[in-house]
Amino acid sequence: MTFTILTLFPGLFSGFLESSILARAIARGQVGVKLVDIRDFALDRHRVCDDAAYGGGPGMVMKPEPIAAALEANRSQGEKVVYLTPAGRPYTQRIAEALSLERGVTLLCGRYEGIDQRVIDAFVTDEVSVGDYVLSGGEVAAMVVVDTVTRLLPGVITGESLQEESFQSGLLEYPHYTRPEVFRGSRVPEVLLSGHHEKIRQWRLRQSLEKTRRNRPELLRAEALPEEARELLAEMEMEREGDDHGCDEGS
Ligand code: 6GU
Repeated sequence: MTFTILTLFPGLFSGFLESSILARAIARGQVGVKLVDIRDFALDRHRVCDDAAYGGGPGMVMKPEPIAAALEANRSQGEKVVYLTPAGRPYTQRIAEALSLERGVTLLCGRYEGIDQRVIDAFVTDEVSVGDYVLSGGEVAAMVVVDTVTRLLPGVITGESLQEESFQSGLLEYPHYTRPEVFRGSRVPEVLLSGHHEKIRQWRLRQSLEKTRRNRPELLRAEALPEEARELLAEMEMEREGDDHGCDEGS
């Protein structure tokens, strides 16, 4: 899998690409990352890549010619061109999974108010946002895509840790503990020391459900939960109703 990243700020990626899982995947040849400086494709002596918006308004727009030239110089036939923009479709694990099946993906990072619409119309296959907030540019979002996709590639990380993760199951992850057994007076939950694998599995599922209900209740409605999880949820619901008995509504 090869990522081609078009950006005005290639330097932003250096620490990221040199770190941990990603550096190892690159060293092993499991993923390739090619950084393309859009400024190298500017037409003029001063290498200008932005200009004022037609129709007026604040902020600058990225000019179409350098981006088009950078895409044409680097594009492989049939490859997806993903434009990172807060106006894109919400990025999800599902999209990461789909991208991980591609031979190559081009990531186009916008800056300023965005890029000229004509270059989007001519080249972009997908517009993606990584969340409901505004970043200064698409670079951090591109790192999100590279990171999430790379860790899904065969052999990059071991299958088991993948399967247990948040979102892979549609639920948030259960809490984790390591040594020491007592940290500042707080003990590791007894069940985790019991060696009883089935009990541990049930405890973790319940913890996942409770965390998901607290932090992301909409996920519980969206997911087709396994029978066991639905039963546990119903049980939790009953317990909470018991707790609430005689109390006011609220927190
Ligand atoms: Cl992909 N780009 C920018 N500039 N801001 C964002 C974003 C992308 N996703 C969320 N906010």
